[in-house]
Amino acid sequence: MTVAAESERIRPRVLIDCDPGHDDVLAIGVAARHCHIVAITTVAGNSPLVNTTRNALIATDLFALGQVPVHSGAAGPLNGSSGGFATGAHGRSGLDGPLPRTPSRGADGDDAVSFIIETVRREEGLWLVPIGPLTNIALALRRAPDIASRVTGISIMGGSLTHGNVTSAAEFNIWFDPEAAAEVFNSGAALRMCGLDLTHQVAADGRFADALSAHGTDTSQFCAELMHFYQGYAARTQGLTGEAAYAAPAPLHDPCAVLAITHPELFSIQRLHVVVETAGTQTRGMTHADTRPWANPAEATVDVVVSADGPRAVAMVLDALLL
Ligand code: RIB
Ligand code: CA
Repeated sequence: MTVAAESERIRPRVLIDCDPGHDDVLAIGVAARHCHIVAITTVAGNSPLVNTTRNALIATDLFALGQVPVHSGAAGPLNGSSGGFATGAHGRSGLDGPLPRTPSRGADGDDAVSFIIETVRREEGLWLVPIGPLTNIALALRRAPDIASRVTGISIMGGSLTHGNVTSAAEFNIWFDPEAAAEVFNSGAALRMCGLDLTHQVAADGRFADALSAHGTDTSQFCAELMHFYQGYAARTQGLTGEAAYAAPAPLHDPCAVLAITHPELFSIQRLHVVVETAGTQTRGMTHADTRPWANPAEATVDVVVSADGPRAVAMVLDALLL
């Protein structure tokens, strides 16, 4: 594959649906550098909707995205449960680490589902980039099935070909709303899946936060403090301290869903049949791929991103934050 020079690359037009969340903010930074962000919508996941919406607005301040519309969406999963916020990894605010700050503006609306439908129907060549639970996307597809074939694709951070993180089987974004994920996977849309087995190949240690801090701007310092908290959590969950904690790899989950469409040459993809388990007592929220050699190729509809040039991907994320 000939790789276009950065200046010659076409900037994909994206709508990011997110639940900021430390890695969501980094993903928005990468998209600000390499995409045309048409809009941002928010969903409950890492933190309650009020927090994820505030945090998305803070991200638009960080990356000079003041003209990008932000619409809030679902406050919980389709089945009406309260979900389970990722307070450990992201803190009570959803963006613990830096001092709290107030965004310069409010959201542009609170009906993300209608906004997603209108935007997809208006835009040509739009990618949906959901990097949180899939509740908004599922509701939009349920109300307007035509959008499944209208989008160029849906590039998600979610799922796993191997183990989960919330449970041994389920990755958080899928686990939070398995019914929504199942509807999205069954929608017929062109799906690109960056699961945990991929995102763990794109991991940052303490040097990442140090490089951000050394850059010395408000944005890079804010992201340094985000990464210090986020990478520190990765170390704490492994019971690491001192130098081992500094070296603990923190997977940059959400930026992968952006880089998978802006820099596909960094990744390899395998088209597989993937289903979402919604009923299993032990496996609810699992993304199950049919990897049997004799699997029916006609059923393989999901582009699963299976490998990455991790160091180059991490460097690209870092570079996008050095503003
Ligand atoms: O499992 C990782 C995913 O869950 C990421 O999107 C992270 O932001 C959290 O939402
Ligand atoms: Ca997320």
